[in-house]
Amino acid sequence: MHERMPAVLPTILPGPACWRDVFGRVAPLEVELGFGRPHFLLGRAAEVPERDVVGIEWKGRWPRAVWQRQARGAATNVRALHGNAWLLFGALFPPSSVTSIFLNFPDPWWKAKHKKRRIVSDAFAALLASRLAPGGMVLVQTDVASLLEELLARLEAQPGLVNPNGPGRLAPRKPVGASSHRERRCRADGVPIFRAVVLRR
Ligand SMILES: C[S@@+](CC[C@H](N)C(=O)[O-])C[C@H]1O[C@@H](n2cnc3c(N)ncnc32)[C@H](O)[C@@H]1O
Repeated sequence: MHERMPAVLPTILPGPACWRDVFGRVAPLEVELGFGRPHFLLGRAAEVPERDVVGIEWKGRWPRAVWQRQARGAATNVRALHGNAWLLFGALFPPSSVTSIFLNFPDPWWKAKHKKRRIVSDAFAALLASRLAPGGMVLVQTDVASLLEELLARLEAQPGLVNPNGPGRLAPRKPVGASSHRERRCRADGVPIFRAVVLRR
């Protein structure tokens, strides 16, 4: 069970979106899964205006916060989707289509009854690998060292993915400027942050 993605009926899911139509241009796509408060999502969109940034979050208040900001004229290169990222990501993005995938402080889901929500699985690592474009990057940031260690091992085991810092090694520096809400809180509280990058060859 731990290694399986949640079972869904394929017919209830939409097909891949035409992101060129959504954004009105062809641009590298970046995706943040479980964005929560949209500090990183909006910060990243401002940081890379030449890219399009999509966030998926299942607590409705955070996508709504982005929509309200956009109604007031905020960034046009960002879309916030409300739903289960583990399902929507695979459904809405075709294979080899995403330049960067961001996982900022994913919930560890310690409780046994929440096992199926955990991202530490070979199935989830395979999903990330399959959606990444050649040369693309997955960035994982967390304050839970064991989560990163386990997810990184599974990502490194995916054919075509490589850790540029060496197997099992953390990223010595952050490859992006934007910071998530949880990241800012960890920094303010002096909580160590662990981050790793894997690239698709
Ligand atoms: C610990 S919070 C981190 C939020 C944000 N990324 C940050 O760094 O501040 C984890 C977030 O992931 C969201 N989340 C967890 N599982 C999810 C799923 N399957 N689909 C979409 N969002 C999910 C939660 O609702 C929550 O907002």
